[in-house]
Amino acid sequence: MTTAPNPASPIGIIAALHQELSGLLALMRGGQCVHLGSREFWIGDLDGRPVVLVLSRVGKVAAAATAAALASRFGVRAMIFTGVAGALSPQVAIGDVVVSTEFLQHDVDASPLFPRWEIPLTGIARFEADAALADGLSRSARDVLADPSSLVGDAVMHAFGLTAPRVHSGLIVSGDRFVSTAAESTALRGALPDALAVEMEGAAVAQVCHEWGIPFAAVRIMSDRADDSASVDFPRFITEVESRYSVAIIRRWLSGSQAAADSRAG
Ligand code: ADE
Repeated sequence: MTTAPNPASPIGIIAALHQELSGLLALMRGGQCVHLGSREFWIGDLDGRPVVLVLSRVGKVAAAATAAALASRFGVRAMIFTGVAGALSPQVAIGDVVVSTEFLQHDVDASPLFPRWEIPLTGIARFEADAALADGLSRSARDVLADPSSLVGDAVMHAFGLTAPRVHSGLIVSGDRFVSTAAESTALRGALPDALAVEMEGAAVAQVCHEWGIPFAAVRIMSDRADDSASVDFPRFITEVESRYSVAIIRRWLSGSQAAADSRAG
């Protein structure tokens, strides 16, 4: 039997790095911290919406452990992952936003026992994002990126060569590697031509959410091109660009989803 998600249940919001979560944490009201499994789960509200904010730390195991705790102990009705990623598609530029439609773990290969990328004994290689959640996040990202310099300022736009950042929807691939050579990103593009972005957590959370039946989507801001210059200015990009975009996108999405819940309630 499936039950409809309770609108009073919190949304779980996960990020891998402190700087990716700090902007949201600073806005949280009534934050109460629960320590569990070496993580701090911050329970409270953001703009009046119940949320649980948590730092997963980096990588698929860290992300999966965090998502499993959110699912089993905090009764979240959906999860969102936010943070940076490396742009893989030639259509995606640094400063653009990629919202997931599906996820794949690019470093999983149990062939010849199972097809490459398939998670053994699930029959699944690509985990779908929740369509309504992903659509809502894309709309919010488009609204926010209509005026990017009001968020980050002209000097920062100029410093990172950002002109007119765009929003893309598509496949995000995850693996336990920071992709920082052109050889590796070229190989990934060749193997998975529809992959828009690469990061280190999303597909692991997608697998956990699939197993728990919890809607999930990710919103990722492109910090680099997953090539030999991938680590240049990475911390500065997160502080000055990613955290501002991501706070604005999530707040916009929360206010839109509140309006939708209010209209359903009549
Ligand atoms: N997150 C941000 N950039 C990344 C990259 N190049 N590889 C993996 N994860 C990333």
